[in-house]
This record gives sequence, C-alpha cells and structure tokens, in this order.
Amino acid sequence: MSIDTPPITPQQYEVLHGGGAEAAEIAQQRLSRRRFLRRSMLAVWGLSTTAAVAGALNMLYPGVTSDFGSTLTVGKKGEFKAAKPSDFQAEIAGVYHRPVARTYVIHLSADTTFLLKGSLLGEQLGSESVVKDSDGTYWIALYQKCVHLGCTVPFKDSCVSFKCPCHGSHYNVTGEFLDGPAPKSLDRFQISFQGEDVLVNTGAVNQNVPRPDDTTRLIAAPSVQCTG
Ligand code: FES
Repeated sequence: MSIDTPPITPQQYEVLHGGGAEAAEIAQQRLSRRRFLRRSMLAVWGLSTTAAVAGALNMLYPGVTSDFGSTLTVGKKGEFKAAKPSDFQAEIAGVYHRPVARTYVIHLSADTTFLLKGSLLGEQLGSESVVKDSDGTYWIALYQKCVHLGCTVPFKDSCVSFKCPCHGSHYNVTGEFLDGPAPKSLDRFQISFQGEDVLVNTGAVNQNVPRPDDTTRLIAAPSVQCTG
C-alpha cells in the first residue's frame, strides 16, 4: 500500500467522482493523512540520524561526549606544551582551558623551580594533586570555579596568574591562593594518562588545598602586578 494513496471506501470513490463539498472534504482528509505520515517518517529519520552521529562521536572520542562529573578525555599530551611558571601563556604554553571539563590543564616543565625541596616537596605535590610524569614534567587539573563565590576565573597572560573578575581573588599558575577574598586555593580534579590521552576525573575534586604559608607554598608569586 503506498503512503501517498491511502485507500478509500467505494462510497468515498463515488463521492469523489461526483464532485461537490463532500468530495472536497474527503480530498482534504487524504491530504492531511499524507502530511501526517510524511512528518512521522521525517521525525523517525531525524532521531535515528542523531543517535547514529552520537554513537560515532563516542567511538571516535571516548569520554569527550560524556557529561561533567565523569572522567573526560581532554586531549593528547602533545597538545599541552609544558612551560616554566614565568613563561605561561594561555593556550600556548603551560595553561590550557578545557571547558568540557571546566578545567585548566596546567603543565609545568621539568626545570620548574619549586620553593620546597626533598620530602616536603613530594608531600606538598601530593596534597595539591600535582602529578609528576615520567619525563619529569608536572601536571595539574584546576577547577575553573573561584572558591570565593563561584565565578569562572580567567588566566591573565599580562600578570601570569588567575584573577577573578568578580571580587578580585588572585591565584598563582598552580592555583595557589595569592590574595583577595577567597578562603583557599583553587580546587583540583584528578588528572591521569592513558597512553597519550590526558584524562580528567571531574567527579573527583580535591577541595582541601588551603591558603599556602611559607612551609607549603610551591611556586613564588609572579613578579608582575595584576591590575583589573
Ligand atoms: S567569586 Fe571570585 S572573588 Fe568572588
């Protein structure tokens, strides 16, 4: 049976061939049915296509299409060039925003100068969720949310640090508190690797990095003043 020619009863056939208002009404009914069937088929086709595209994306980029709150693949290691804190530049060296994971991926070069040494340094790296890679570089996944009242904190190349636009909280490249009303340092997600993939577990947040003091601060404050 064709979609475009729905069956009609013998009585309807008579009326159609006789003409008049009844014929017009039946013709209108047939037209409405055709439209309904076409629209239904288009809707089914649209849904199937969307599901197929989503499936393909998930196969090509596992994790990327998942929701915030799970482990997300945020890119390949090669996309995140390491740098010394003083050389950080957004998306070019050391600091990379990945909105899908609401995170800044921080990649410190192996020759980064830390203020702490030895076991103190090791303990502090662990408590601040800093991961040392096999090539000697260091990785951190900072939560983009200001720990004062929740604004997204941008990285400012001009003062090589994070400065919140809402009330001025100021954080170092490692997310450590520098000044402002924030009660502590930026939160961090768990960061790990699977081959060359960089994974951020947005369901595992370290909210326990306090305002640093002389015995816990990892990185010196930037030498440039942060205005605005
Ligand atoms: S929300 Fe960032 S300083 Fe207030």
